[in-house]
Amino acid sequence: MSRPTIEREDASRAQRGASAITFPPRFLWGTATSSHQVEGAQTQSDWAAWEARTGRIHGGDRAGRACEWWAGRAEEDFARARTMGHSAIRLSLEWSRLEPRPGVFDEGAFDRYARLLEKARELGLTTMVGLNHFTLPYWLAVRGSWLAEDAPDRFARYADRCARRLGDLVPLWTTLNEPSVLALMGYVGTAWPPGRGNPALGMKALRAQLVAHGAAFHAVHDARPDAQVGLVINMPALDPFDPSSVRDRAVAAAQDWAFNGVVLDALAHARFRFPLALREERAPILRVSGGPALDFVGLNYYGRYRVRFDARHPGELFGRRDARDTVHTDSNDWGEIHPEGLTRQLLRLSRTFPRLPLYVTENGMFDPTDTRRPSYLVSHVRAVHDAIAQGADVRGYFVWSLLDNFEWAEGWSTPFGLLALDRATQARTARRSADVYSAICRANGVSDAMEVR
Ligand code: BGC
Repeated sequence: MSRPTIEREDASRAQRGASAITFPPRFLWGTATSSHQVEGAQTQSDWAAWEARTGRIHGGDRAGRACEWWAGRAEEDFARARTMGHSAIRLSLEWSRLEPRPGVFDEGAFDRYARLLEKARELGLTTMVGLNHFTLPYWLAVRGSWLAEDAPDRFARYADRCARRLGDLVPLWTTLNEPSVLALMGYVGTAWPPGRGNPALGMKALRAQLVAHGAAFHAVHDARPDAQVGLVINMPALDPFDPSSVRDRAVAAAQDWAFNGVVLDALAHARFRFPLALREERAPILRVSGGPALDFVGLNYYGRYRVRFDARHPGELFGRRDARDTVHTDSNDWGEIHPEGLTRQLLRLSRTFPRLPLYVTENGMFDPTDTRRPSYLVSHVRAVHDAIAQGADVRGYFVWSLLDNFEWAEGWSTPFGLLALDRATQARTARRSADVYSAICRANGVSDAMEVR
């Protein structure tokens, strides 16, 4: 893939802060979704079981019918995306549907995904397809989820099957979604399945997911040598609350290392360093001849956390995140709106993986009244452009999410959609954000007139 560039004039204009910006030709504009959050009628995963337990999900919500993608509405929503000028869509396959029992694959489920991907292709939407987005088959959950000895190997066999069966229809594959987030929420913490609440197990689960990524990367390439396979990582900006405080700087750096740095280091150098291993270990599965086992990197970015030293928080490496200006609920926090952090993280990825294309695979905010999201989108699109102007090879941008969907432990309480969903009627209504984003997609950038205050 040759690397598109933005016009020099455009780049210097962006650096000067002028308002009209244009992206490279063929830049992908899309939205991101995940199987469990939109498909509905999904009963065989760890999440389906988790939702049935009292007190796990805000308001006792369940994914239930979700957005009825499995029942047939995916195609309608793809058509909506196309009508809004999008050129791409990110979605994921549900492992628990495709392999309902260990080693037993459901051909009917593969057919359903094939139809859906054919429709996307017919509409002219480039698909980025995740092999996994947090949810695991229940049969793996009862064996220990990512802590099961054979989990990476099982995942690679599933990946092989998906690549052989659907590879013709998938230009961009991703293996896993946000390994650090899953390790934190489900293994260090207890908010998500398997709810282990043990930091050491969190590191074990993170490491297993990285091994699983490597194993799946090789499996997909063995099946389809021409495949493009990436990993999606979540990299919030973690800054010291008081930059002049040595202690704030130290705890922000420690949190950044444990959440972001150790993953980048493992992928870039095929090794596990503390806290993934007590002593440094080599991880040859994360390497191919000539570099990391990655064809591209997906970055999910929502915001920034400012971290203060606090001796009462050893479990968070003595750092307490300041939540005054963040987008949060009682139980979750997406950080402070800070577009510069997105530029920074893209440039960091580009320094870490100088030869790899990058995609912003998720960016967005929950905003029930849609008052802040339009300007959030414009400012973050600008931030991506700034990164490109400074040399990052960013090939696409995906908003989380196309439509309101089931938001894990938050249930249905935090609407992230460009399209509002009426769950009773399944009606979709475009929010103002949908129009703003549509204008960005059509203009392949931001024009002066589009500026949203
Ligand atoms: C996840 C999505 C989630 C979104 C908003 C990301 O961490 O990949 O599944 O819905 O954030 O919280």
